[in-house]
Amino acid sequence: MGRIPASCIYIIVYLLSCTGLKLSKIFYIQILIFGTLSCLLGAANSGSAEQKGCVSRYYGDDSIVCVCNATYCDTLEAPQKGPIGAYALYSSSKDGLRFRHSTGNFSSTPSKESKAGTIVFTVDRTIRYQKVIGFGGAMTDAAGINIASLSEGAQDLLLRSYFSEEGLEFNVVRIPMGGSDFSTRPYSYDDESMDVNLTHFKLAKEDTKYKIPFLERLIKMSPKEILLFGSVWSAPKWMKTNGDFIGKGRLKDEYYQLWADYFIKFLNEYESRGFKFWGITTQNEPTDGNLPNFSFNCMGWTADQTRKWVAENLGPTLHANGYEDLQLLVMDDSRFSLPSWPNTLFADDLVKKYATGIAVHWYVDFVLGPRVLNETHYLHPDKFLMYTEACNGDLPGEHNVLLGSWLRGEKYAHSVIETMNNWVTGWVDWNFALDLTGGPNWAKNNVDAAVIVNASADEFYKQPMFYALGHFAKFVPNGSQRVDLRGEEKVENAKATGDVEGIAFVTEENSTVVVLLNRGAEDATAVISDPERGELTENLPANSINTFVYY
Ligand SMILES: *[C@@H]1O[C@H](CO)[C@@H](O)[C@H](O)[C@H]1NC(C)=O
Ligand SMILES: *[C@@H]1O[C@H](CO)[C@@H](O)[C@H](O)[C@H]1NC(C)=O
Ligand SMILES: *[C@@H]1O[C@H](CO)[C@@H](O)[C@H](O)[C@H]1NC(C)=O
Ligand SMILES: *[C@@H]1O[C@H](CO)[C@@H](O)[C@H](O)[C@H]1NC(C)=O
Ligand SMILES: *[C@@H]1O[C@H](CO)[C@@H](O)[C@H](O)[C@H]1NC(C)=O
Ligand SMILES: *[C@@H]1O[C@H](CO)[C@@H](O)[C@H](O)[C@H]1NC(C)=O
Ligand SMILES: *[C@@H]1O[C@H](CO)[C@@H](O)[C@H](O)[C@H]1NC(C)=O
Ligand SMILES: *[C@@H]1O[C@H](CO)[C@@H](O)[C@H](O)[C@H]1NC(C)=O
Repeated sequence: MGRIPASCIYIIVYLLSCTGLKLSKIFYIQILIFGTLSCLLGAANSGSAEQKGCVSRYYGDDSIVCVCNATYCDTLEAPQKGPIGAYALYSSSKDGLRFRHSTGNFSSTPSKESKAGTIVFTVDRTIRYQKVIGFGGAMTDAAGINIASLSEGAQDLLLRSYFSEEGLEFNVVRIPMGGSDFSTRPYSYDDESMDVNLTHFKLAKEDTKYKIPFLERLIKMSPKEILLFGSVWSAPKWMKTNGDFIGKGRLKDEYYQLWADYFIKFLNEYESRGFKFWGITTQNEPTDGNLPNFSFNCMGWTADQTRKWVAENLGPTLHANGYEDLQLLVMDDSRFSLPSWPNTLFADDLVKKYATGIAVHWYVDFVLGPRVLNETHYLHPDKFLMYTEACNGDLPGEHNVLLGSWLRGEKYAHSVIETMNNWVTGWVDWNFALDLTGGPNWAKNNVDAAVIVNASADEFYKQPMFYALGHFAKFVPNGSQRVDLRGEEKVENAKATGDVEGIAFVTEENSTVVVLLNRGAEDATAVISDPERGELTENLPANSINTFVYY
């Protein structure tokens, strides 16, 4: 509910004054006219709440975070539906813009003379590609622990930043099934040795304290349907060939069925608490557990072992227990496994029947180009591709947390554009929130996150990565469809060529959304050419992300 516009007080004063107070007639009339006008204007404006701006803090040149606490946090209001021919533009940049909102109109006459380096992006809504599932992150134990370390008010604003109508409106949440490295200890849901009937299976205190309470709150504040999916890092030690959560080891052959039963127990436990999962992945990074001495929770699988387990155990068990509508995502690993893993898995008709998607992690994307995504799509066009994990600060020698790094935000935006231009349907970040050291992580595998919590100050810092994801998540809801966008330089200028890239979507409400990323250190001029609307020309600031929305 908005506040009563202050001007409405004038009307109340007027009405009260009519009941007997003696003031001059002229004064009455002035109050009446001014009051009525400003009251009406105020009421008209109160429909769109004021966007709250970023309270910026610098950690070195150009390294800007937005500071939030228990009483203040910047917001992002949804764009109002504009008239045909108008567009809204939201810009964030290295030099400090955060979702700066402006508007403009298409021009029906093409711009006569384009400046050097102008790039013309042509939207073609008749050429359509994949539908979008959505955007999100992971409610790891570490994320929950960090959120819980804040006061109630700050917790609320953090969750609202991601999930509410005044935030990014994320709609996907990944839930580790048991421990991951982003926990304070390694564990599973049944650490009782040789519990072959899973009699002692139970959720951990981390679920009831750090995951479930925040899931309840974020689902309540979200205007969108939240799609939950689970991923597991390791089976109980006693089910594994190496008897440990870490290192090289795999599921013992005799526990293939028990391991499928374990998944059902997990889904049932969450369902009994009111959480119906949208999906699960077969195993987080199955190749980790094939590496000698791997340092955190893992379990090794080959593609063929996974094929056998899905076909003979997991698939039939999900169906027999009422989970036939659950999305089953295979692989959950880096591009190195494309397209060989899907090829092996989907060569089996049973796997083809049970599994619906292919989950990909971003960690080797800088080594291996996006071509394998496109290739995989054409080999398995009925299986959706989804990015299920990404983070910065994981490489040796890198700062784990780099407060305010624009480059890290830019890498996120570039990844979304590159992967979604190659058939990826959703993009899911890793930890929702980490502490100032990029933890807690029991295996010292600390990394960066879009939100960093400073518990001692009861503050949290929204990093450029947060805004980068917002440029997509907020404006490209579930059900949107990617459409063709072709970028072409009008005038030779080698410098600008590689620096600006983009992607376009049509939403279910028929708005067109174009996101343009300028990774160059100089401003660029972009033209968006739409066959039905005309052309618009905008300056893209140096190192900026720009979202255009129009009907
Ligand atoms: C919270 O942030 C707002 C805006 O920066 C500031 O005015 C207020 O003093 C802060 N509150 C505390 C308790 O620091
Ligand atoms: C766009 O066009 C409308 C209607 O002609 C006009 O009212 C508005 O001021 C224009 N906006 C801009 C930013 O030029
Ligand atoms: C979103 O997309 C997925 C996959 O296409 C679908 O399962 C889900 O029901 C959709 N709808 C909503 C409202 O999330
Ligand atoms: C597990 O259940 C089976 C069948 O109910 C039973 O025969 C077996 O003794 C149980 N094993 C243990 C260790 O409880
Ligand atoms: C793994 O650890 C063992 C025992 O600590 C050591 O002997 C071996 O060299 C290590 N292997 C690799 C590949 O690091
Ligand atoms: C994607 O793969 C298809 C089928 O092999 C091919 O025709 C197309 O050119 C590829 N697109 C890109 C962008 O590589
Ligand atoms: C975290 O908060 C403490 C207490 O207010 C402050 O001294 C410290 O500088 C903050 N850390 C960062 C990285 O801002
Ligand atoms: C969007 O456009 C399509 C085709 O032009 C039309 O069939 C559909 O009803 C429109 N949807 C909305 C919500 O306006």
